[in-house]
Amino acid sequence: MYPSVHVCLPSDHRAARAARQSMQLLESYIPEETIEDVNLLVSELVSNSVKHASLMDDQEILVDANPTENGIRVEVTNPGGAQLANRLPEKAEESGWGLLLVAKIASRWGIATNGRTLVWFEIDVGKRPLVLSA
Ligand SMILES: Nc1ncnc2c1ncn2[C@@H]1O[C@H](COP(=O)(O)OP(=O)(O)OP(=O)(O)O)[C@@H](O)[C@H]1O
Ligand SMILES: [Mg+2]
Repeated sequence: MYPSVHVCLPSDHRAARAARQSMQLLESYIPEETIEDVNLLVSELVSNSVKHASLMDDQEILVDANPTENGIRVEVTNPGGAQLANRLPEKAEESGWGLLLVAKIASRWGIATNGRTLVWFEIDVGKRPLVLSA
């Protein structure tokens, strides 16, 4: 069994950093390079919620991270069902890089919208043992 992270963040400029800080709880259980990837991707998704979801002051961004036998699954949820398809823009230029990074780095990812917007990704850790220190 592994610890999991569940945090509710206000939608402002501190949210991405706070999301990364919450991942420190997993440092003893997940390889450092995987935590770095998780931090990068969770930053992009939380920033997207702040930037694109038009949240009210009383609406929060939820970040859930669950290590598994294979790696880690992370979900970032905000209220509001955006018109977000599970595909990428044709070409990223000045913007449009966040989901592209998710698609390149994660082993799997997806979007669910149903009154809220949930973007999830999974990173497989491979055959390395998940528990780093006893
Ligand atoms: N949580 C969200 N709520 C509503 N729309 C979203 C959300 N996340 C992404 N989007 C939409 O998907 C588009 C692509 O997201 P992506 O992160 O790839 O690019 P970006 O945020 O526009 O730019 P960048 O990440 O390069 O700063 C966004 O422009 C936005 O229209
Ligand atoms: Mg983005």
